[in-house]
Amino acid sequence: MRNSPSKNGSSGGHCRNFTDAVWSPFIKSGLGISPNRSYALVSLIILLAVGAFISTRLLLDPTVCHPKRHSTSVTASPKTKTQTHTISPKYPLPTTVITQNPKPEFTLHCPANETTTGSTCPRNNYPTTTSFGDDNPNHPPTATCPDYFRWIHEDLRPWAKTGITREALERAKKTANFRLSIVGRKVYVEKFQDAFQTRDVFTIWGFLQLLRKYPGKIPDLELMFDCVDWPVVRAAEFAGVNAPSPPPLFRYCGNEETLDIVFPDWSFWGWAEVNIKPWESLLKELREGNERKTWINREPYAYWKGNPVVAETRQDLMKCNVSEEHEWNARLYAQDWIKESKEGYKQSDLASQCHHRYKIYIEGSAWSVSEKYILACDSVTLLVKPHYYDFFTRGLLPAHHYWPVREQDKCRSIKFAVDWGNTHVQKAQDIGKAASDFIQQELKMDYVYDYMYHLLTEYSKLLLFKPEIPLNAVEICSETMACPRSGNERKFMTESLVKRPAESGPCAMPPPYDPASLYAVVKRKQSTTTRILQWEMKYWSKQNQTGS
Ligand SMILES: *[C@@H]1O[C@H](CO)[C@@H](O)[C@H](O)[C@H]1NC(C)=O
Ligand SMILES: *[C@@H]1O[C@H](CO)[C@@H](O)[C@H](O)[C@H]1NC(C)=O
Ligand SMILES: *[C@@H]1O[C@H](CO)[C@@H](O)[C@H](O)[C@H]1NC(C)=O
Repeated sequence: MRNSPSKNGSSGGHCRNFTDAVWSPFIKSGLGISPNRSYALVSLIILLAVGAFISTRLLLDPTVCHPKRHSTSVTASPKTKTQTHTISPKYPLPTTVITQNPKPEFTLHCPANETTTGSTCPRNNYPTTTSFGDDNPNHPPTATCPDYFRWIHEDLRPWAKTGITREALERAKKTANFRLSIVGRKVYVEKFQDAFQTRDVFTIWGFLQLLRKYPGKIPDLELMFDCVDWPVVRAAEFAGVNAPSPPPLFRYCGNEETLDIVFPDWSFWGWAEVNIKPWESLLKELREGNERKTWINREPYAYWKGNPVVAETRQDLMKCNVSEEHEWNARLYAQDWIKESKEGYKQSDLASQCHHRYKIYIEGSAWSVSEKYILACDSVTLLVKPHYYDFFTRGLLPAHHYWPVREQDKCRSIKFAVDWGNTHVQKAQDIGKAASDFIQQELKMDYVYDYMYHLLTEYSKLLLFKPEIPLNAVEICSETMACPRSGNERKFMTESLVKRPAESGPCAMPPPYDPASLYAVVKRKQSTTTRILQWEMKYWSKQNQTGS
């Protein structure tokens, strides 16, 4: 499964920028929302549907737009390191916990000579039941999943009435990198084409870890996965009455025009090539990094670093850099990948990249994995209008988690945002904090797994055929993946290995949106954004009049 860059990877370049991002409020369930409706009508609808009129004051008060959600920890399992070499005398074993309640524990069973490739999948490696479930009346109550889980229903809606036939699944093979089957708790992968770098490897690794976290709870299924950036299942082709049902295709991002099913990207388990470690440890570092420099003591400018070459919109952004002629409050840097690779991608300092009060997000040619790193900074994220979404970004709200920036006339938009933030420091800090809280709480690794759990469970219910072991497939397990590897790949796999089953069940899946509430959510985002942009226009026309 080791991959080399291939034609698939043409998109990878832009994705290696850690400073761009995406959010998309779009829906694709065919509600026929017209962007041309008059503002008054929109306001009226919101007034009726939500029962709240968003004034500028309210808009800037996050508690108004965004009721507090549950942030209860679902699996509060004590972290007990079991590899003796990682135990330092400073951190003695929590013996009371272990002796009181011995938990089944997974380890990697690699052959003694690790250079041999003959790793096999161990039998009876997984405990037969988890400690939660119907059979355990004492399992702790579970919290409701974050709101963005509701999009799972929307992503699967195209098949809600028809179900998924084998024929539809096979049509998804056209662009897929691999087929993954789960049959009787075992994972089989049939590979069709190489993916860029180790995208597919770490994606499959994620599936394996999910099975370790919830052994016996993941239903049998077959799915097709495409590791390339851009969504390809065009909704328009499947819209007619007699149109075939769309092929169900899993990938990392989607947009308004497509029906691809979004799934957490590989970087949650690590990005070996650029030395980005698994999310769980990175998240902790980012949290600690934020404590190093409080918001008010950060540079009062908007920061971006990335590869401007991959998209025109990024080259356009570069015009906003500080110069002799302009001060648009932007500090922009081109990533030097050759230099960085020579220096071994010291991306461990992602956590120390939060040195500006504002960080800009701009898409490359599609979504980018960097969004979570930027949002986690405590800085105000200035989000240049995105066109793609990934699995969690649909939970982000303008003026609460980020500040919207226009695609056209970016420089003025950025200057306005930064000036506003520097004169409304408390509100600006609140936005920065809301975003990093969202990332720390609602996007913690437990929820990433729970998202996978619920998506796969709902998906499997739609299958109209019995999942099978594909003819050309091989059984894959953590051992066959990790044991033969070395370097970052081995390191990140060891680090992200799920070592014990979850002690509580996954969070409770929130219900689907009904059409009216989905409409209200989408419209609310749009009107908040519109409100800010109108406000900005007013500001600039005043500035223009006073001739500055
Ligand atoms: C491990 O296997 C390789 C290849 O078979 C061999 O060259 C090497 O000597 C072995 N190492 C040990 C420690 O047995
Ligand atoms: C932006 O301006 C700064 C300061 O002059 C400079 O160091 C940096 O290289 C510029 N960025 C780009 C992409 O030209
Ligand atoms: C302000 O002036 C600039 C430069 O002439 C122009 O591009 C921009 O559209 C004007 N903005 C408003 C809101 O009038």
